[in-house]
Amino acid sequence: MMAYVIASGCIDIKDRACVKCCPVDCIYEGGRTLYIHPDECISCGICVSVCPTEAIHADNELPEAEAAFAAVNREFFGPTVSGIGSPGGADYVGPVACDHPVVSAYPTALPV
Ligand code: F3S
Repeated sequence: MMAYVIASGCIDIKDRACVKCCPVDCIYEGGRTLYIHPDECISCGICVSVCPTEAIHADNELPEAEAAFAAVNREFFGPTVSGIGSPGGADYVGPVACDHPVVSAYPTALPV
């Protein structure tokens, strides 16, 4: 099933506007970015327009340079990364400190 994906635009920004508008609370907070749970997302698309960095895309419409982020969002919840699984809502978990290795390795923006 189609789901929405948070790509690189969220890294080190974490605006969280998307969290407030998600009707199923499927947007989880990691250390440097947020992640959409692909099995909990109902693909309503409400989060897309509220993100100030336009970081959120449908998984079948990811820009080529962001293609890795479909797997990043999915694998974040698995046993080798956060182990969160599918609890049915981010509120049950709260923020966690870890990130997917692709996100951990992402360059930090230089201070302006
Ligand atoms: Fe990140 Fe955009 Fe949500 S910056 S926290 S995906 S509103």
